[in-house]
Amino acid sequence: MTTVLAFANQKGGVAKTTSTLNTGVALREQHHRVLAIDLDPQANLTMCQGIDPDTVTRSIFDVLVNRAPIEDIITRCEIDIAPANIDLAGAELALSSAIGRERSLEKALMSVKHHYDYILIDTPPSLGLLTINAFAAADGVIVPVQCEYLSLRGLAQLERTLQMIRENLNPDVYITGILPTMFDARTIHGREAIEILRETFGDRVFDTVVRKTIKFAEAPVQGRSIMAYDPEGDAADTYRKLAKELLNGTSSEHEGRGSFEPLPAYGAHI
Ligand SMILES: Nc1ncnc2c1ncn2[C@@H]1O[C@H](COP(=O)(O)OP(=O)(O)O)[C@@H](O)[C@H]1O
Ligand SMILES: [Mg+2]
Repeated sequence: MTTVLAFANQKGGVAKTTSTLNTGVALREQHHRVLAIDLDPQANLTMCQGIDPDTVTRSIFDVLVNRAPIEDIITRCEIDIAPANIDLAGAELALSSAIGRERSLEKALMSVKHHYDYILIDTPPSLGLLTINAFAAADGVIVPVQCEYLSLRGLAQLERTLQMIRENLNPDVYITGILPTMFDARTIHGREAIEILRETFGDRVFDTVVRKTIKFAEAPVQGRSIMAYDPEGDAADTYRKLAKELLNGTSSEHEGRGSFEPLPAYGAHI
């Protein structure tokens, strides 16, 4: 059984890419077979594993638009990566008139699914066709959220988009968990943001909270995950803890609750 998880939030800079890579490597440490797919034209995930997108001749663009087999582009790094390059910026337009445009990724994954226990998809900061392809292919969505009040406000829009996806493309896709990121325990604001998240989303907020540390900016410079860059550090342990939460069945727990409701009325805050 393969679990496909999309890391999504239409806001940029909330640690989608960082979380996709490091969750993937943490799952790999636990001996799971992991593929991470770069679905962002900015190709940050690709770069985070030391691949120069300018040297990538065949990318996820060719898979989505030209139906190239995804096996042909997968690159072995700390985990397997399906890289992107700037071509992907033209994918939404190229796909816009194609029949089944929302299901290109889902179809492409069929031939490799059995090779992997986890397929993690890094999405761009929008709810456009690329992110919709990720939602159509996914069993669940992980939503990294920066621990700031203004960052919480986009979640209602994300949930509405997911509701539309459930009605039209993928009835089983729900938020697996909300991951608070860039938490600064020294500020009241950060602590309040977590409180609001937990009040509003209850047990859909992961127990794991990712603290702010410069290490996350340093690791990609070396093209490495935080697990490779600072294996003994707290930052690496945080993503190991998240991987354990996933393995302990947060997602299957949600799936098991068949009638797991989309968010009820939002708290006054969001
Ligand atoms: N917990 C964290 N603490 C400090 N900086 C972080 C943290 N997580 C990510 N970053 C940094 O913040 C920036 C944005 O993160 P990124 O994962 O690229 O976000 P997104 O993919 O949502 O745009 C990057 O420079 C990254 O290194
Ligand atoms: Mg990103």
